[in-house]
Amino acid sequence: MDKLIVEGGRPLRGQVRISGAKNAALPLMAAAILADGPVRLSNLPVLGDLLTMGRLLTFMGGRVELGGIAPNEAELDLTGLSRPEAPHELVKTMRASALVLGPLLARWGRAKVALPGGCAIGVRPIDLHLKALRAMGAEFDLSGGDIVARAPQDGLKGAEIRFETPTVTGTENLMMAAALAKGRTIVANAAREPEVVDTGQALLAMGAKIEGLGSDAISIEGVESLAGASYVVMPDRIEAGTFLAAVALTGGEITLVDFPHEALAPVTDKLKETGLTLTPKGPNLLAQSAGAIMAADVTTRPHPGFPTDMQAQFMAMMAAAKGTSVITETIFENRFMHVAELRRLGADIALEGRTAVVRGVASLSGAPLTASDLRASASLLLASLAARGESQIYRVYHLDRGYEGLDRKLSSLGAAIRRVKA
Ligand code: EPZ
Repeated sequence: MDKLIVEGGRPLRGQVRISGAKNAALPLMAAAILADGPVRLSNLPVLGDLLTMGRLLTFMGGRVELGGIAPNEAELDLTGLSRPEAPHELVKTMRASALVLGPLLARWGRAKVALPGGCAIGVRPIDLHLKALRAMGAEFDLSGGDIVARAPQDGLKGAEIRFETPTVTGTENLMMAAALAKGRTIVANAAREPEVVDTGQALLAMGAKIEGLGSDAISIEGVESLAGASYVVMPDRIEAGTFLAAVALTGGEITLVDFPHEALAPVTDKLKETGLTLTPKGPNLLAQSAGAIMAADVTTRPHPGFPTDMQAQFMAMMAAAKGTSVITETIFENRFMHVAELRRLGADIALEGRTAVVRGVASLSGAPLTASDLRASASLLLASLAARGESQIYRVYHLDRGYEGLDRKLSSLGAAIRRVKA
């Protein structure tokens, strides 16, 4: 397991390209199950979760060439799928494996998917996915920790579905199942995240009939079959937001190439409140910071609210801000694992249930830190960039699951980060 050794106090200067969005690439890879021909994806990030999804689709009998054509390209041909199964050893490392459930039921009429366990940030059930698929005629049994799923003999049927709470992968799973179902499916209280829209756009390119993408009411008219297609994955708004939090903390001036302006608006609006200067430059963004951060409050919400995946990174900023920030996490019940570690750097954070009260301190000081989940590890890395002296960050495999070379990209901007094989 690698560790990162960080020497804080360096301003960031230069430019980096934002990689493709992990949370769009994952459903897009699963969508290849639906196609009668090969699906070509480009602008893919090279990171752990995508390699896991590639292994899963290969396990099912698909032909997956990740990086075969070019580093950030993939060709996926699942027409030869022989085993509609997602075994526990793959699902336990990546909950997003549940995304194969809808496509397998729609295309092959059956699936056996290990029930995802909990994870560091919460229980994260998929009950809403199952309830919605049941409304389309699917039946589920639980045996040995696996969900054994079957579609009706004559296939899934369109249905009217309302999600009790917006679910990102639940909406994606349902859109993919409905694309090949008989009749029309209406999804109310659908997730509006940009990655859901990206998934829908790719399904349209494959011949699906979908309306309402980006709204909370999506309607899908099932079709006989879907063709292979080529699709360019959208840039990763959370990686982009992570770089903005980094330069806010260290001071400096960076240009982010291929910046998702619209998708990240809920975050850039908030960051301007903290004093960051953001100047769009066509498809890119110039971010300038004098390093003096003003405190601001945040409550995470489904899109178009402030994204939960930026909460930990924003908290790292607030730890070194002028003033007090109240941060409320409404999406996951345990997404404050980074708090104890930030305190080790000298952060002054009080937790009250789902709310953290962060009193900015004049300076943080380096310490050994342990990552617990993907965005917590990003938060610790950002805070250590601003801390005086040296920090060591252990268990960086969490970081490698969700970012394409974040430490390498930050080093190219002047950060002092060394990766050591532990
Ligand atoms: C997606 O997870 C993202 N992952 C997460 O990003 C992100 O944090 C989350 O959406 C919220 O934006 C991918 O897209 C691969 P949800 P997902 O279903 O779909 C509850 C990252 O850091 N819920 O929108 O699993 C759930 O427990 C990851 O990149 C149910 O109760 O999240 C949570 O409290 C972390 N039953 C809330 O809804 C269900 O059946 C929102 O979850 C489904 C969800």
